[in-house]
Amino acid sequence: MISNKKSSKISGFYKMSVSERIEFVKDFSDLTEEDVSIFSSSLDIETADRMVENVLGNFELPLGIAVNFIINNKNYIIPMATEESSVIAAASNAAKIARIKGGFTAECSDPLMIGQLQLLHIDDVAGAAQKIMNHKNEILKIANDQDKILVDLGGGAKDLEVRILDSPIGKMIITHLIVDVRDAMGANAVNTMCEALAPMLEELTDGKIRLKILSNLADKRIVKAKAVFDKEKMGGESVVDDFLESYTLAAIDPYRAATHNKGIMNGIDSLIIATGNDFRAIEAGAHAYASRNGQYTSLSSYYKDKDGNLVGELELPMAVGIVGGAGNIHPKARLCKKILGIKTAKELGEIVASLGLAQNFAAVFALSTVGIQKGHMSLHAKNIAVMAGATKDEIDKVSDQMIKEGKIKLDRAKEIIEEIR
Ligand code: MEV
Repeated sequence: MISNKKSSKISGFYKMSVSERIEFVKDFSDLTEEDVSIFSSSLDIETADRMVENVLGNFELPLGIAVNFIINNKNYIIPMATEESSVIAAASNAAKIARIKGGFTAECSDPLMIGQLQLLHIDDVAGAAQKIMNHKNEILKIANDQDKILVDLGGGAKDLEVRILDSPIGKMIITHLIVDVRDAMGANAVNTMCEALAPMLEELTDGKIRLKILSNLADKRIVKAKAVFDKEKMGGESVVDDFLESYTLAAIDPYRAATHNKGIMNGIDSLIIATGNDFRAIEAGAHAYASRNGQYTSLSSYYKDKDGNLVGELELPMAVGIVGGAGNIHPKARLCKKILGIKTAKELGEIVASLGLAQNFAAVFALSTVGIQKGHMSLHAKNIAVMAGATKDEIDKVSDQMIKEGKIKLDRAKEIIEEIR
């Protein structure tokens, strides 16, 4: 049963004008006129100046919307901030195919982040590690004293793990503080706790603390997404087989896996940026996770169900927040969260993973059939036409002509402009 009445399925969305698209989004997400005005506004310079150092202005990215998504039986439209053409159209198209079999299902684990404390210069590392574990409750209490609000919300430091690592500079003890960060990304909360624990761990072990910082390999905060892609809609079971042959290379070869995962991140980063989250943290976590078994591999996996349809699954760490950070300050990030209608970071993580899977399916599907350039070329040709000086009325004529000739080049665009003027 679909839980919301408004459908995210819409045909020919790309053919609408910008204002028609905004009208659709306004209606779908119950936006106010004030919300809508944010689409065309820029971050004010005072806010920008408070966010980072040495500010000169803002750097804009196009913000689009992917349509047709059903995730966990709910319709979603998904804001995406990206400079890359075809990405948003591809995600929307993949979501349309996934919809036939009910859309995406996704599940995010509890929001557990890891903080690392590095202890050095200890003679008896095994004894010191044992001492740390013997004082676990005391350590967790000091950590939790740093963030009463988080604890009141049901989060806070929950567990401790100790690892002994050998290194060229001697043995070291790495203490992992496991923190439930609730709806935050969690870096601030975890780093504050780690710094507060440092003196106590030094005293307890007679060692020296060096690093005390969050780990971006958030492998206790994992999201999984899954979808079934209808074989008929894909062009028949032989196309599913072609897809699986293409996918296999990503599973066995890091050279292909890097590109395959880049396609996943095309979707993921766009939404991470649109919601004001830290895309470097997500990227770092994703690629480290992709190497967890000793060889870098695909973050997604694909197989056929008993009826010959394609099943896709994606699993990766998901350190996203809906409170705190830039996402609270940046008006467009706040608006994007409103468009999604999300209530928890867990829900956002589930959307992010579903979008990543959609993006990945779309790329591999295109690569296994018509190739990626066909889709890319139309927007690329339009960009070249603009660069060559085509006016609004000339852009389509110039780009269509270049595509027809199979020659998408700046000098040819200039010639065509002269020919049609
Ligand atoms: C381009 O941005 C992403 C792709 O290369 C992904 C892939 O090859 O799977 C098309």
